[in-house]
Amino acid sequence: MPRNLSGRSFLKLLDFTTEEIQYLLDLSMQFKQLKLTHTPHKYLEGKNIVLLFEKTSTRTRCSFEVAGRDLGMGVTYLDPGSSQMGHKESLADTARVLGRMFDGIEYRGFDQQIVEDLAKYSGVPVWNGLTTDFHPTQMLADVMTAYEYFGHYKGLKWVFFGDARNNVANSLMVVCAKLGINFVACGPKENMPDEKLVKTCKAIAKENHCTITLTDDVKKAAKGANVIYTDIWVSMGEPKELWAERIKALSPYQVNKEVMSMADPDCIFLHCLPSFHDLNTTTGRQIYEEFGLPEMEVTDEVFESAQSKVFDEAENRMHTIKAVMYATLQ
Ligand code: CP
Ligand code: NVA
Repeated sequence: MPRNLSGRSFLKLLDFTTEEIQYLLDLSMQFKQLKLTHTPHKYLEGKNIVLLFEKTSTRTRCSFEVAGRDLGMGVTYLDPGSSQMGHKESLADTARVLGRMFDGIEYRGFDQQIVEDLAKYSGVPVWNGLTTDFHPTQMLADVMTAYEYFGHYKGLKWVFFGDARNNVANSLMVVCAKLGINFVACGPKENMPDEKLVKTCKAIAKENHCTITLTDDVKKAAKGANVIYTDIWVSMGEPKELWAERIKALSPYQVNKEVMSMADPDCIFLHCLPSFHDLNTTTGRQIYEEFGLPEMEVTDEVFESAQSKVFDEAENRMHTIKAVMYATLQ
């Protein structure tokens, strides 16, 4: 059923109802069909958007750029450090200026409060392209990918292994609770999501007849899992000095063949990417030289296996981001 999200910002999934999230997923699948059949869909011709990045990106930036152009919009990119915001101009002033020039603003960066304030002061829809707390556009692509594989998502068991207090794990817990998916966070007690957020998600999950479980027991977590998910152990914006303690704490939660073999035979592997699964990155090589670890949060074997749907997931970032922009700007 169509929902009216026109004029809304997309800051975190807690702000959206189950039906609104389902509507965005339906719309994403429609946009994917239009793209795959080369059907033009310049529905937002004449509008302009700005992408404000305070952290680096491949998928999110490219998704906003391609989706924006496919919809007929002008797209301006401001790279990390090249805008005046926060250095020579307050956030409120920058937001009010951008709101006069653009129809929508994407923000990737640090505190959730920054993206919330951009929305407050700019007066136009603002989309969260990742903050320290949440990564909501990623979630739409993740659920869409699982839906394409299983044909449904309600009642599935999703398990996140590793740094379960990061932006991706937080957002996964929220989207699972909203959509009736059983969510398990598996990692050390120190790397569990914020208690207040867990409490909020448990209440939402109860309404949607699903569960939220926190555990450090890998076997218990993996057993019967339909989706196994992980993310890098040190997120953008965190100091590189953290690598040593994270490697020690999170190595037991690496997604490897043994973990996958405990899951449901049909289980798929997802990862928001980028991933350290081999030595083909400078960071991966530095970690190898310092700690002797050739692969980190996921083994290359799992990453490259048939169960891994990470490139479908990455492609779906573009279709889902297009749906979010269309729904909020139409
Ligand atoms: N998954 C994701 O957000 O990737 P980028 O950091 O490349 O945008
Ligand atoms: N948790 C990761 C996600 C990257 C898409 C980070 O914030 O760096």
